[in-house]
Amino acid sequence: MEPLDPNRLPVHLAVIMDGNGRWAQQRMLRRIVGHQRGAETVKMVVEQASLLGIRYLTLFAFSSENWSRPAMEVRALMTLLKKYIRQETARMMRKNIRYNVIGNRSDLPDDVNETLNEAINKTSGNTGMVLTLALSYGSRQELSMAAARLAQDVLAGKLTPEAINIDVFESYLDTGGLPDPDFLIRTSGEMRISNFLLWQLAYTELYFTEINWPDFTINELHKALADYQSRERRFGRTSDQLSGRGDLSNA
Ligand code: FPP
Repeated sequence: MEPLDPNRLPVHLAVIMDGNGRWAQQRMLRRIVGHQRGAETVKMVVEQASLLGIRYLTLFAFSSENWSRPAMEVRALMTLLKKYIRQETARMMRKNIRYNVIGNRSDLPDDVNETLNEAINKTSGNTGMVLTLALSYGSRQELSMAAARLAQDVLAGKLTPEAINIDVFESYLDTGGLPDPDFLIRTSGEMRISNFLLWQLAYTELYFTEINWPDFTINELHKALADYQSRERRFGRTSDQLSGRGDLSNA
């Protein structure tokens, strides 16, 4: 396993868990079997991230666009999600993990929302890792809703247009209160963001692996984190500035 520097782990890790369907199809299995195996990978990554001391883990579990999948697959995913949350809440309590959800929850079935509410309430006092599930989530939808809410507050006289800045805008996003992700992992070889956290990923380090989500192992997670630790994050500055030699460099 790759050795990791505990002081240089991402504070916030985000994951696009992709390739469940392909994993299943390659094995002549139903797509839902891929999602079931994917849920086992979720368990492993949550456990490892919490053990490593990562403070925020955000998982893209169901996109706004996923509603257009066959009804049977959508139903099966919702059932799987509910089962997972129910089964895992006790472990979240033991591990001091707090549940959080982003996305358009009004689209989710009532029973899923009830299960989520129970889990969110039960874990609300936990002070360890924050596990955010992006459900019925789309970043463009999130951004346009944030703009609409801002406009309403301006109309209501709670805010002036001049007062709108990056911090104010961020507080209107679903992720208000969460730091931006430091590192994004996407599995299955697709190299795109797919409407995930478009605002929040501005300076995030991106990592793509060919491995399908059900095959993503502890070793693969450590490999990805070791890759993150090898990167220099400059946030628009120069390497020399970061190493404290900023004044010596040639412009
Ligand atoms: C992408 O694979 C994955 C999803 C749309 C759903 C993710 C769900 C899980 C990992 C399991 C349940 C989640 C939790 C939090 C318990 P895909 O179906 O798009 O794969 P494909 O691109 O190969 O078809």
